[in-house]
Amino acid sequence: MQDLGGIVERALADFAAAPDPASLENAKARYLGKAGELSGFRPQGSPEERRAAGVAFNSAKQKIEAALEARRAVLAEAKLSARLTEQALDVTLPGRGRARGNIHPVIRTWQRIEEIWRSIGFEVADGPEIETDWFNFTALNSPENHPSRSMQDTFYVDVKDAKGLPLVLRTHTSPMQVRYARIHKPPIKVIAPGRTYRVDSDATHSPMFHQVEGLWIDENISFADLKGVYTEFLRRFFENDALEVRFRPSFFPFTEPSAEIDMKLKGRWLEISGSGQVHPSVVRNFGLDPERYIGFAFGSGLERLTMLRYGIEDLRLFFDGDLRFLEQFP
Ligand code: PHE
Repeated sequence: MQDLGGIVERALADFAAAPDPASLENAKARYLGKAGELSGFRPQGSPEERRAAGVAFNSAKQKIEAALEARRAVLAEAKLSARLTEQALDVTLPGRGRARGNIHPVIRTWQRIEEIWRSIGFEVADGPEIETDWFNFTALNSPENHPSRSMQDTFYVDVKDAKGLPLVLRTHTSPMQVRYARIHKPPIKVIAPGRTYRVDSDATHSPMFHQVEGLWIDENISFADLKGVYTEFLRRFFENDALEVRFRPSFFPFTEPSAEIDMKLKGRWLEISGSGQVHPSVVRNFGLDPERYIGFAFGSGLERLTMLRYGIEDLRLFFDGDLRFLEQFP
């Protein structure tokens, strides 16, 4: 006959020591399982003795089962409260609110440019990004098959214009000179900011980028006037009244003479814009008499202006959509 009292004592101690449900079920198997300590109970002796042994066995078994149930309940309760603590939700915390977006640095430049040029007396015009071959090239002195076109390799659209030539994504904002001058009477003072496209992609070139075109047409203006307003624009844009600006001879098919506009930043001359006096045959394409009207134009890159203003080295950051970059321009 087993020592029932000893078994109960050990079972209760083992259950109490079980730290989690799995070890409790292992402990249970040691006492109540098929090969457990309570198995193989065979009461012996007289009927009286056998009945007494049966009563003692049942009472021992019930004590063990009761202790098991009690411990199961304690462990389940502990598990639940651990989960509740872990997943605690403080309903008194204020809400997170909606994240505030902000204006993209290039668009901010666009807005500042409009503001500054408006204050200098220029209108702001807007035109199509998908252009005809004539407005983008031919009217600007780059005839079909002329090598100067290769300076601006572009994307062609699978749609032909009235002349049978494929439409192009404009390679610069200069077609806006022609569009605007053909429907407005001089004096004309206008800028046309917008998206432009070229087959080009590296740290300083993107297939889509932004330019601002400027056009000033009047009867009696000179390069000095262009230099005056453009220098004023740069000084206001970079918030530096002492900013040095120089015009350096260059070439564009639609201006003659042509100049690159450079600005001095930290002791170095940096190219910031193309410019020039509108070529007489382009003035003719405006529908104006080049003997009477003189035009000055410039075309500047918005990404470049933005990079110089904020000290950004890689243009691709503008188009990656990485919030760690964009959030730095609140
Ligand atoms: N359209 C020229 C370019 O994209 C820039 C330019 C504009 C030059 C106006 C002269 C006058 O390179």
